[in-house]
Amino acid sequence: MRHSTLFGHLALTCGLLASPVFAQGKLTLYCSSDEAWCQQAKTEFEKKTGVAVDMTRKSSGETYAQIKAEATNPKGDIWWGGTGDPHLQAAEEGLTQAYVSQARDQLFDWANRQAAASKDRTVGIYSGALGYGYNEELLKKQGLSAPSCWKDLIKPEFKGKVQVANPNSSGTSYTMLATLVQMMGEKEAFDYLRALHKNINQYTKSGSAPIKAAGAGETVIGIVFVHDAVAVAEAGFPIKSVVPCEGTGYEIGSMSIVKGARNIDNARKFYEFALSADFQSKAKDVKSFQVPSNKASSISAKAPDLAKIKLIDYDFVKYGSSAERRRLLKKWDEEIGALPN
Ligand code: G6P
Repeated sequence: MRHSTLFGHLALTCGLLASPVFAQGKLTLYCSSDEAWCQQAKTEFEKKTGVAVDMTRKSSGETYAQIKAEATNPKGDIWWGGTGDPHLQAAEEGLTQAYVSQARDQLFDWANRQAAASKDRTVGIYSGALGYGYNEELLKKQGLSAPSCWKDLIKPEFKGKVQVANPNSSGTSYTMLATLVQMMGEKEAFDYLRALHKNINQYTKSGSAPIKAAGAGETVIGIVFVHDAVAVAEAGFPIKSVVPCEGTGYEIGSMSIVKGARNIDNARKFYEFALSADFQSKAKDVKSFQVPSNKASSISAKAPDLAKIKLIDYDFVKYGSSAERRRLLKKWDEEIGALPN
């Protein structure tokens, strides 16, 4: 008995020592895209390079706050995924460092514009439009009318039936806040958010949680990126996705290398890997239906076609700036988050 345990330990230790994972060092990955995609990135990168990846998934605003809190003693190496605004804020605040990818010429302009706006401290990896989704079965059962616009979400019939994330933690929700301000003007946007608050049953931490909850029948409507609603429908839930009739905003999902990264060579290796058409083309295998930033990546037929969506000219420089993002979040906390239910 003792013998076999000892042998087992030896075999395990030798196996680990021989593993290329240990030979190539490690990488601490902060991931803000969807959990399944984060897992895929970890597994595929480990398989390709032999680098051991320590991955944590947290929402965009949360990861930004963590990198800021760790600035004097950085623990993360690379931040992959999540909406671009907090990546731009991190760049402006010197929390991330410049790197120019060899793949730069293969990327769409919108991806390189993030790089240009941040002095190469961040880059676009995907994009996707904001919208919402609803549970068709619940809607029918409750005799509600199908929403199709932003203005529908504040109808009294949806009281307690809408879910969205908190914009402090979630990049999705901050994208909604900045989108409404750009579409309606600030005063009207906050009036709208006050009216919407009456219909909100919960502000979640993560951006895509509301549509997963809608799939599970815990809320009727979830405000999320349209591709997240498509993903839950594809997983077999009765979800219908909506692109609001008035038009909408969008995200440029981004990637940044942490300033003071301990595993800088592996961070750069991951950066190149994440921009490759080969890896980006695999996103659809885990139901991530964003538009990839490398022009040569293959895209799922299920991915919402951004060319057919009425998109606003989202001002990433302004709404990703440190002063504006901080100001809007503070105002949201004071005027919306603090309201009674
Ligand atoms: C989902 C979407 C991504 C988006 C991310 C932001 O995972 O699929 O496109 O970038 O949400 O997450 P957050 O939790 O910060 O809203």
